[in-house]
Amino acid sequence: MNKTILKAENISKSYSMDGKADTEVLKDLSIEIMKGETVSLVGPSGVGKSTLLHLLGTLDEPDSGRILHYDNGSEIELNKLTRNQTADFRNRHIGFVFQFHHLLVEFNALENVMMPALIAGLSNSKAADKARQLIELVGLTNRADHKPGQLSGGEQQRIAIARALINEPGIVFADEPTGNLDGKNSKAVLALISDLRQRFNITFVVATHNEEIATSTDRVLVMGEGRILGER
Ligand SMILES: Nc1ncnc2c1ncn2[C@@H]1O[C@H](COP(=O)(O)OP(=O)(O)OP(=O)(O)O)[C@@H](O)[C@H]1O
Ligand SMILES: [Mg+2]
Repeated sequence: MNKTILKAENISKSYSMDGKADTEVLKDLSIEIMKGETVSLVGPSGVGKSTLLHLLGTLDEPDSGRILHYDNGSEIELNKLTRNQTADFRNRHIGFVFQFHHLLVEFNALENVMMPALIAGLSNSKAADKARQLIELVGLTNRADHKPGQLSGGEQQRIAIARALINEPGIVFADEPTGNLDGKNSKAVLALISDLRQRFNITFVVATHNEEIATSTDRVLVMGEGRILGER
């Protein structure tokens, strides 16, 4: 049976810029994500896709409404957690892949992938073992000691995906994961996401303008007027 992993109820979000009136980006938006499904968020630029991913991923908070996460039958209301609890929750349960990978340039690929596991308290050797397995999975074993500057854009993005997965998060948010890649690398990243999803039953929520990504997901949610307009 399908189980809910994440639910947002009537969330609103405005940004205030100094001197100007608030812009209400999300208005009473509700969304439900089921465990193991892939969902894409589509809609014109500026409609609030990234804003929504940030809120769902605890990187930012809504002005009103609730965001609920379900894990083994227990319900966690994200916006009731303290700052430390939120950081811990994010580290353990959520993976992020951004358009510009955000890898740490001083560290090599292996170290970048290990980082969230070390933060979660894993020993150096265990974190390294896990990171090596994931790097193999994304097909970059022979690049593990390269720093981000020594990797191609597509390779950097695959390392970012490995990093997003190391703590075995229940849900992965990807914001334009192929946005800065050429067609060939986009396809490789797309194939990887689909493969990971089939192997590990990972839940993916992807904001994208890429039609190929959108059609490859289980559901396509169309955003507009500050909310989810419908499913395509
Ligand atoms: N930190 C911020 N401060 C003020 N306004 C912001 C901030 N972040 C986003 N906005 C505004 O909120 C709106 C939604 O932005 P968001 O980045 O969520 O759109 P998007 O759907 O992801 O667009 P794109 O497809 O271009 O990535 C935009 O009008 C943007 O200018
Ligand atoms: Mg965006």
